[in-house]
Amino acid sequence: MSVLVTGGAGYIGSVTVEALREAGESVIVLDDLSGGHRAAVAPSVPFYLGDAGDAALLRSIAADHGVRQVVHFAGFISVPESVQDPLRYFVNNTAKVTAMLSALREAGVKNVVFSSTAAVYGEPEQTPISEEHPKRPSNPYGLSKYFVERILDWIDAAYGVTHAALRYFNASGATAARGEDHHPETHLIPLVLQVPLGRRESVSVYGSDYPTPDGTCVRDYIHVADLADAHVRALRYLRDGGPSRKINLGNGRGFSVREIVSAAERVTGKLIPIREEPRREGDPSALVADSRLAGEILGWRPRCSAIEDIVRSAWDWHRSCPDGYEDR
Ligand SMILES: NC(=O)c1ccc[n+]([C@@H]2O[C@H](COP(=O)([O-])OP(=O)(O)OC[C@H]3O[C@@H](n4cnc5c(N)ncnc54)[C@H](O)[C@@H]3O)[C@@H](O)[C@H]2O)c1
Repeated sequence: MSVLVTGGAGYIGSVTVEALREAGESVIVLDDLSGGHRAAVAPSVPFYLGDAGDAALLRSIAADHGVRQVVHFAGFISVPESVQDPLRYFVNNTAKVTAMLSALREAGVKNVVFSSTAAVYGEPEQTPISEEHPKRPSNPYGLSKYFVERILDWIDAAYGVTHAALRYFNASGATAARGEDHHPETHLIPLVLQVPLGRRESVSVYGSDYPTPDGTCVRDYIHVADLADAHVRALRYLRDGGPSRKINLGNGRGFSVREIVSAAERVTGKLIPIREEPRREGDPSALVADSRLAGEILGWRPRCSAIEDIVRSAWDWHRSCPDGYEDR
């Protein structure tokens, strides 16, 4: 019995693949490498270069490997890009997932762990945000994920295929061998670290007039290894017959953009100049998780929660390979 990991060559997927292997799982990766890296997946892991919406390919992978569970990371990830080109997001993040789920269900897959996002909530009415908070995505990216959450509910009701939709807040940090290498990079911590790496002169801060203590956006940063651990637990939970759940994964503490820049200055010992830019469309002011449900249901809690430890792990990885996986 195997676990198919779509998007397993990406940032969170590749760290999760390693965690699953360490937990003794048999893992297969499917990735089209539109945003991932072949070098992020160990050569000993069966790897298929292909599209998560390719039903024939999925049927043959499921049959050849006896796939019973899927972890679906594959997707596009940029909020600003989703605002500029929403159809690209609805096709890749929603329509292709329905094609995938249809093929995998026919092939006997019983459980789905789905990469959802804090972006399903939209502008929060209160923080920390619990799973019960209204879902009003303020950008096409968040909506593309929320559609899948609702589709998963109907698939459970009709066919008994259960799911854990894990709503990540901001994935961050690195392990010794795997880190964040997106082109273009849109996530704050790697962008900030490009300054001390000598790759950019300053970091842009989008909006300094939000209703937050220092006017910049507040986010909840969760270490990628902690996210990976939650996926291992979610697969076991579903395999043991646990009912479908939507589960937040965050640290429960928010840091503003300016606080992240300061943490990076302390970790790297370098000054990081800021460039103030206008707000970006679709950016909520503050997103901080209430992750108590993950503790209750999965027995999960973050182990690497200090912001300096998170930034340091990312810094160590970027220093070891300043050009990302090309250096590896
Ligand atoms: N990074 C975050 O902070 C964050 C937060 C919330 C949710 N998520 C979700 O987690 C998932 C993983 O995020 P990530 O940061 O690791 O992104 P990533 O871009 O590093 O990984 C996504 C992977 O999916 C692959 N992919 C994309 N479309 C595909 C397709 N149609 N077929 C096959 N492979 C495809 C890419 O090549 C890439 O390897 C995404 O679904 C993202 O929406 C990420």
